[in-house]
Amino acid sequence: IFAFHAQEVGPVRYAESFGAWVVTRYSEVDRVLTDHTVFSSDELRHSVGPVPHGSNPLVRGLQAMDPPRHHALRRIVSQVFTPRAVASLEPGITARVDALLASAGADFDLVGELAYPLSVHTIAGLLGVRPSRWPDFVRWTEAITSFFGTFTADESRQAAFHEAISELGDYFREEFARPTGIIATLLASDLTEDELIDFCALLLINGHETTKTLLVNAVLCLASRPKPADLRPAVEEVLRYLPPTGGTDRFVTRPTVLGGRELRPGQRVVAMISAANRDPAVFADPHTFDPGRMPNPHLSFGHGVHFCLGAHLARMEVRIALAALLDRSWSITDLDTRRTPVGIDVLEVSLASAAEADR
Ligand code: HEM
Repeated sequence: IFAFHAQEVGPVRYAESFGAWVVTRYSEVDRVLTDHTVFSSDELRHSVGPVPHGSNPLVRGLQAMDPPRHHALRRIVSQVFTPRAVASLEPGITARVDALLASAGADFDLVGELAYPLSVHTIAGLLGVRPSRWPDFVRWTEAITSFFGTFTADESRQAAFHEAISELGDYFREEFARPTGIIATLLASDLTEDELIDFCALLLINGHETTKTLLVNAVLCLASRPKPADLRPAVEEVLRYLPPTGGTDRFVTRPTVLGGRELRPGQRVVAMISAANRDPAVFADPHTFDPGRMPNPHLSFGHGVHFCLGAHLARMEVRIALAALLDRSWSITDLDTRRTPVGIDVLEVSLASAAEADR
């Protein structure tokens, strides 16, 4: 709602409450994302506020680096996210979805019983994490993302954040002694131990919170509509219409003009992906959900050098889960939602099997 209001008051404006320039028009958001020499991702170097101590994947990981270091690191890790590597995960994900749905009752919580376990297990499996530690990963991810989702300094959240970061680091240090999966590939590179921990934590955090939210958003969008003929454009439209990542930050490195406003070095810029995705100059009838919309150049996975590494994986996971739900002719009987800083947390879904529907 904030984003739509902002679009009316101008494409780039300074928001005192954020202490940042808020950018809402597609062309300017796209420039902020792609022009990395003027708009830096390096939060540690540019942040004016206190940066939490300890290993902090969100400010020290790949996402918060500029080229050339970003380029070198991204080259290493993209080896494990090639379309072929991701495609090889498809049978495992399909089996996991079927197993989760088989053990869910007729009435089940979409987040707790499908979206969360699916996204955590997929990324944890990719990282070679022991299944016995998967519940810890959920807890750590929640502590970390809820800390970053708030704009106030809340001491208990800060403490939970530091504890989660330190437990996560300890866990990965143990894993380095018996590496498998991605971790083995990364250990063979020249990454430092800290960089490795940051990267593993970043994958886990980016990989499961956002994918979970995308699946929930897809269910919300498709619930009252006929089954789409093709799920690929439908998933792209969910991404455009309700992007799991609403915006992303950059720091100005040199004087520049954006949307007619003069920006100074050191200032923070928030590129509002959610608003850009509804820019009427790019998307006809932008506030309408159109599951067949094509082309659909949404910015929900970012653009430029930081384009989401897990985009193929997220699309595939959500497509497989949706196809399974649609095959079972599910319907939402109860919508019990709890808003968290990162998305909707709880969603009750009632499942009617085809056999029951025929009776
Ligand atoms: C980067 C969104 C799923 C890993 C990004 C960015 C966005 C994004 C917007 C760019 C951030 C920026 O430019 O500041 C999403 C959404 C997802 C999703 C909406 C699900 C629907 C995943 C998954 C993984 C992942 C499943 C990993 C398994 C990453 C990484 C980066 C990234 C590592 C940083 C890339 C870089 O800086 O070069 N994601 N993501 N994401 N994403 Fe995702």
